[in-house]
Amino acid sequence: MMIVAQGLEKTYTSGGRPLPVLRDIDLEVAPESFVAVVGPSGSGKTTLLGLLAGLDVPSAGRVVLDGQDLFALTEDERAGFRAERVGFVFQTFHLLPTLTALENVLVPLELRGGGRGLRSRATELLDHVGLGDRMHHYPAQLSGGEQQRVALARAFANQPRILFADEPTGNLDQETGAAIVAMLEELNREARTTLVMVTHDQALAERAHRIVRLAGGCIVADEEAGAPAPSADGTDSAAPRP
Ligand SMILES: Nc1ncnc2c1ncn2[C@@H]1O[C@H](COP(=O)(O)OP(=O)(O)O)[C@@H](O)[C@H]1O
Ligand SMILES: [Mg+2]
Repeated sequence: MMIVAQGLEKTYTSGGRPLPVLRDIDLEVAPESFVAVVGPSGSGKTTLLGLLAGLDVPSAGRVVLDGQDLFALTEDERAGFRAERVGFVFQTFHLLPTLTALENVLVPLELRGGGRGLRSRATELLDHVGLGDRMHHYPAQLSGGEQQRVALARAFANQPRILFADEPTGNLDQETGAAIVAMLEELNREARTTLVMVTHDQALAERAHRIVRLAGGCIVADEEAGAPAPSADGTDSAAPRP
């Protein structure tokens, strides 16, 4: 399994009172799969993604990501693990405003310390998302869809084993959003990156292999979706999708 979450709980404290936002979460995600997480606003989707990615610490339970028990690590070790194996795409892009597109993509590459060839790798990634002619633009000079493409290039810079995306199309028009999801699908299919995406959009969720539905902090449904899942032995038995 690429992700195993067991007995995951998250309780915040609000005005001195405990506020449970996630309860009894057990979840397994197979390598190379594409899982959509859906549910009403406030149901705990962002909280769940943050825990699965090791951005946040649970109140109880554990997460094993790509064989690593995340919360057995120190915070520093967890950050290092994330830099190597985990990508994250946010609804609001989260680009650094004082850096150009190219410099934003260089950040994770430099953090990991790849040495030579980082600039050409960053350039290649931006070319791949269709921004070859926008490398030196600052985020404020880019459209929302372009900013999200930079964020995708950045999230994918270190070829993560797993990519989390929290409503990556939430701030985009439908057509632009569909193009972003098409790029995520391509990463999932071609680079075999496990993809977990929160979305409000039922049509986009149907493009996943599986849909996990949250309500009130619990998983209330877990079903196969429109797209065929990769076969268990890792070979791609499914017919190519359009
Ligand atoms: N840092 C926090 N402190 C207190 N409550 C929080 C915090 N973050 C989220 N919550 C609460 O947890 C619940 C789930 O939030 P969230 O995971 O963001 O839901 P979703 O992404 O499904 O809209 C909400 O009721 C929210 O108000
Ligand atoms: Mg959210």
